[in-house]
Amino acid sequence: MDTQVGIVGAGPAGLLLAHLLGREGIDCVVLEARSREYVEHRVRAGVLEQGTVDVLTETGVADRLHREGMVHRGIQLRFGGEGHRIALSDLAGGRAITVYGQQEVVKDLIAARLDAGGPLEFEAGATEIDPDGGVIRYGDGSDELRCTIVAGCDGFHGVARAAVPADALTVYEREYPFAWLGILARAAPSSEELIYTHHERGFALHSMRSPEVTRNYLQVAPGEDIEAWPDERIWEELQTRMALADGSFALNEGEVFEKGIAPMRSFVAEPMRHGRLVLAGDAAHIVPATGAKGLNLAVADVRVLARALAACFAHGDESGLGTYSERCLRRVWRVQHFSWWMTAMMHRLTGDPFEARLQQSQLDYVVRSRAAATTLAENYVGLELEDV
Ligand code: APR
Ligand code: PHB
Repeated sequence: MDTQVGIVGAGPAGLLLAHLLGREGIDCVVLEARSREYVEHRVRAGVLEQGTVDVLTETGVADRLHREGMVHRGIQLRFGGEGHRIALSDLAGGRAITVYGQQEVVKDLIAARLDAGGPLEFEAGATEIDPDGGVIRYGDGSDELRCTIVAGCDGFHGVARAAVPADALTVYEREYPFAWLGILARAAPSSEELIYTHHERGFALHSMRSPEVTRNYLQVAPGEDIEAWPDERIWEELQTRMALADGSFALNEGEVFEKGIAPMRSFVAEPMRHGRLVLAGDAAHIVPATGAKGLNLAVADVRVLARALAACFAHGDESGLGTYSERCLRRVWRVQHFSWWMTAMMHRLTGDPFEARLQQSQLDYVVRSRAAATTLAENYVGLELEDV
């Protein structure tokens, strides 16, 4: 064997897995298709659950996160021209979220991997995976890595999931009839905490990256052309949807230096293991971004996987590996439900008046009922690994 664990993909899942295995003295090699420059600057979401911050802190890769990340103990739900704070930490046992860009987590994990001298090859895309033999072909296809275990952490569009025979895989998916247009802007945050807005013209979200940079999202039609959205039109629509009835709120505007449109889908592939191949992160599941769960679910997968592999290589105990898939899928479906629920509550749906009334009742209930707000809070900050 060339290595104990061959890891395909240097996103949060692959990099954190390599980091956790490295700390256990387990040999692993990370193969990444793109360049370091590309993966360190790919803009994604930026909300870290308590559990994600804890594992990064416990394993020594959170110094910059604690210096630059913004700890939030609440979020605001805004609808009918009014804002309603959900006191996350008060309702979820003191647990909080930290706003810190996903690409910053990736940068920190790449730096830790290279500082530790761990093998990490960029522009070395896997072309084929043999899940029974534990072989990864990569590069121009002539390079081969033989592994005891292959970890498919290559995202939704990778090759790992495709290596599982179709008759051995069950796929569950839902496409939402809208997408998110996201921008990064050089503007100071307009609120202390994130603002999730339900509006008859569509959803809007005010998030941030630093005291100088904000991240805003708009619900748009699926397949919308970004060219149809000049910056002025984006700001105008954000201001309209996020306005308060008393006129007291306006978003700080600034130079838009990144914008893009992302589809909204829910996707789960079962099982998350086939022979010597295990799937983790987006390679196995996708959630709509409304619950801010994508990165955190990938982290939860590799926390379970690293423990299972440590027991396997240290003591020959394969029980953790044997239950890896069912263990992770319990959490995957909990998070799928929460993300679907947040999406259905906050977005403009079909326009069906009955549905709109149901949505209104859900919004009113979640901000009036401590029980309902607690459900949102504990799922949003992230349930303990053991609790799911
Ligand atoms: N060979 C090697 N690497 C590959 C291949 C391949 N054939 N195909 C894709 N990759 C790389 C991608 O370039 C990317 O860097 O795998 C990595 C997968 O990373 P992510 O897509 O970030 O997936 P994951 O690590 O599971 O993290 C999930 O990412 O997309 C967000 O919202 C999602 O926040 C979630 C998080
Ligand atoms: C982000 O900051 O990019 C972000 C925040 C919350 C979400 C999704 C994305 O639900």
